[in-house]
Amino acid sequence: MTARPPLNRSLAEFGTTIFAEMSQLAVETGSINLGQGFPDTDGPASILEAAQRAIAQGRGNQYPPGPGIPELRRAVAEHRARNYGLDYDPDREVLVTAGATEAIAAALFGLLEPGDEVIALEPYYDSYAACIAMAGARRVPVTLRPDGDRFGLDLDELRAAVTDRTRLILLNTPHNPTGTVLGREQLAAIAELCVERDLYAVTDEVYEHLVFDGGAHLPLATFPGMRERTVSISSAGKTFSVTGWKVGWVCASPELTSAVRAAKQFLTYVSSGPFQYAVAEALALPPEYFASFTADLQAKRDLLGAALADAGFGVMRTQGTYFITADIRPLGFTGQQGADGAAFCRALPHRAGVVAIPSQVFYDHREQGAPYVRFAFCKRPEVLTDAASRLKALAAR
Ligand SMILES: Cc1ncc(COP(=O)(O)O)c(C=O)c1O
Repeated sequence: MTARPPLNRSLAEFGTTIFAEMSQLAVETGSINLGQGFPDTDGPASILEAAQRAIAQGRGNQYPPGPGIPELRRAVAEHRARNYGLDYDPDREVLVTAGATEAIAAALFGLLEPGDEVIALEPYYDSYAACIAMAGARRVPVTLRPDGDRFGLDLDELRAAVTDRTRLILLNTPHNPTGTVLGREQLAAIAELCVERDLYAVTDEVYEHLVFDGGAHLPLATFPGMRERTVSISSAGKTFSVTGWKVGWVCASPELTSAVRAAKQFLTYVSSGPFQYAVAEALALPPEYFASFTADLQAKRDLLGAALADAGFGVMRTQGTYFITADIRPLGFTGQQGADGAAFCRALPHRAGVVAIPSQVFYDHREQGAPYVRFAFCKRPEVLTDAASRLKALAAR
């Protein structure tokens, strides 16, 4: 045995995640698991059949081309052009990845060097911190703070976070876990900052089709000066309810795409062959599919949001994504050291038979997230209705 612990030091702070603990608790207590963000119904039948057809016809069963199959790269480019007026060359500016997760990893590994700083909006999706650490770079969180009934970005804080070492801004909108969607003015200001300080942007747009209340997703790449300095990332998992397929993509200038590909080729090299064919078909679904998908999730947000409010939570407004952030303080759950979402989430399955995730796990400044917990509403209506009646137990106390 060597004296040094086996785990690479850059990963030491990322122990086992709370998701495993909470999912285990859900099983042990027979609770409804609103912790992890995956749908409990599969995507459109035609798309599931397209994947089966691809396998049966021997399309994608062997290594697909490194950048992804041409059909999918074309479909990604057409989707981007149709929805946002952004033109990408499918041969030089689109790269297929193993979900958005690999795209994020490859973008960070491809663009960062040790000592670089990366600004990301806190609370953040858990892979960001780990990938920044593995790249030897430093994460600089800018905290989204409660602002009325939603979480908002303070642009002055963002500007103040930029230093001479800042290499890129990693931006996620619609934002997991807060449900915040950045508006046009804020995106314009972020774009100006990137241009002024000569920064790259890596944008995580996996919830691009989950903007509610008539709003629309605005890719940062559409803003002046950003087409050439943005690595735009999305994936099929959320939009088509096939999170297990792990088909994602990158759209960026040829230089940036090459940088991302240089790292990606040594991660998975390629993945999800037959599913790439199916996702190419999915991206070409008519606008009605996307509209009804958004409306369906919006109705689920409303159902769970009303249930949480009835149960006595403070409900933060979700403008997009799969998630609602709820404040536990109005429930009187303030704890001895102040509100503690982790203790609350450990108790919730026993008290109400429902599992949520404490938001503090998504923060560097844990105290900022302590009073909040995250619920996923991407579940069947009957599951949400059952959860709603269980949560009433909290109000009854
Ligand atoms: C913000 C965000 N980015 C990326 C991902 C991962 O996407 P994929 O499953 O395509 O790797 C998720 C999944 O929950 C997410 O919430």
